[in-house]
Amino acid sequence: MEKYNISCEVSIYQDNELPQEDRELIELAKGATGHSYSPYSHFQVGAALRLADGTIVTGSNQENASYPLGLCAERTAIFHAQHTYPEQPITAIAIAAFANGHFYPEPISPCGACRQVMLEVEDRYKQPMRVLLYGSDGTHVVESVKDLLPFQFVGDSMQK
Ligand code: THU
Repeated sequence: MEKYNISCEVSIYQDNELPQEDRELIELAKGATGHSYSPYSHFQVGAALRLADGTIVTGSNQENASYPLGLCAERTAIFHAQHTYPEQPITAIAIAAFANGHFYPEPISPCGACRQVMLEVEDRYKQPMRVLLYGSDGTHVVESVKDLLPFQFVGDSMQK
């Protein structure tokens, strides 16, 4: 029997400790929560992406009366960016959640489906995408999606 450990690195920053670029991205993610269509969950999620050329793309969760058809904020933003700017790697994503009249103190962590889509972004552009998970008590930052999804399935996984 063999065992191995996989470690993930997460840094927690207060607002004033983050570089201006990150703070801007977080503000845009917070603003994007206002465009959420979430009449069923009343849980408003916003995502903001920074592309390699500095372009910003935002997204929010879009729900449906047929519940499973709704889409998370992360995937709404990522698919929009990849359709509109397919040549531009996505270098960072910020995510924020608003419900019951306030931004959540603890960050929400992207769902499994979004993590897999985020992983594909890194695999496609062959570079890491920073993930900024905003919480009003601090922003949790990982330097690569691999820190959120350490045991990965990517295209190459089918070549072996
Ligand atoms: N949601 C997101 O948009 N992103 C996440 O990371 C977690 C969940 C949305 C999906 C649904 O519209 C609502 O939040 C409640 O699950």
